[in-house]
Amino acid sequence: MNILLLGASGMLGSDINTVLHTAGHHVVGFDSKTFNMCDGHAVETALSSYPTPDFIVNCAAYTHVDLCETHREIAFEVNGKAVEHLARFAYRHHVPLVHFSTDYVFNGQKESPYLETDTCDPINAYGESKLAGEVAIQKYCEKFYLFRIQWLYGHHGTHFIKTISNKAQNTPHLNIVNDQWGSPTWTVEIATSVLSVLETRPEYGLYHLASEGYTHWCEYADYFLKFQNIACKLAGVPSSAYPTPAKRPLNSRLDIGKFAKTGCIKPSTWKEGIAKFLS
Ligand SMILES: NC(=O)c1ccc[n+]([C@@H]2O[C@H](COP(=O)([O-])OP(=O)(O)OC[C@H]3O[C@@H](n4cnc5c(N)ncnc54)[C@H](OP(=O)(O)O)[C@@H]3O)[C@@H](O)[C@H]2O)c1
Repeated sequence: MNILLLGASGMLGSDINTVLHTAGHHVVGFDSKTFNMCDGHAVETALSSYPTPDFIVNCAAYTHVDLCETHREIAFEVNGKAVEHLARFAYRHHVPLVHFSTDYVFNGQKESPYLETDTCDPINAYGESKLAGEVAIQKYCEKFYLFRIQWLYGHHGTHFIKTISNKAQNTPHLNIVNDQWGSPTWTVEIATSVLSVLETRPEYGLYHLASEGYTHWCEYADYFLKFQNIACKLAGVPSSAYPTPAKRPLNSRLDIGKFAKTGCIKPSTWKEGIAKFLS
């Protein structure tokens, strides 16, 4: 297959690039050095200079959750408007689009895992901007795989495992939030699921895609620190004790039942994913 990949140097994009290449597919990668996503003309010119691909995969996004509160305009430009351009481009060229959204489109008040059909009600600017991208894809695109993913970690970029592991080596004690629930997911496992989707082409649409099982940040940290034999005493604290510019939903659990029914390869449990990543 021929695939055009946007955001190829990001945390998820890097692993999708590697996994698709390794499986023998031809991937042309773009990042912010190739073009600014918000420049519709530049995107159109760059993408049109290649033969029509089998898929466009978009991993590019403005992902600084807290900065989105003060940089709303950039967030909506990249996560909303630029995605609309891409969706229109994909539609005009009859190319299926793969795109990633987030658990942060929900307000976190539901008491059970979120389904694809649940109402979106983001509580921060990042979630609002990502929802704008979702809406654009569903409005302008005919063939799309839209994956809501969450709590990513991987070999590239910065993420919770890297940050906390570094901190924990220099302090005997850390307070970690224990009232936000979700599922830590390894980027390589998302990439493997995406590969499986591209090769088997289940029904187009919106899917929740994450590791199996759920945890909170404190239990998550406890698991990977023990796995690495890093001795640091953790204390669970409520979100209110750790205020951030952007509010986070308390319940970020995604129900992955719809994706599981496709028969495509799905991520393992959150503990198995971390064990594989750290081994
Ligand atoms: N990380 C998570 O936990 C998480 C959770 C839920 C959903 N997601 C979604 O998953 C996708 C991938 O996330 P990620 O964590 O891999 O993100 P990331 O590491 O921040 O990578 C984002 C990519 O987007 C590119 N980019 C940003 N602004 C751009 C612009 N104006 N023009 C062109 N390229 C631009 C970046 O290029 P440069 O590096 O060159 O700037 C980078 O390659 C995103 O859609 C994100 O919203 C992530």
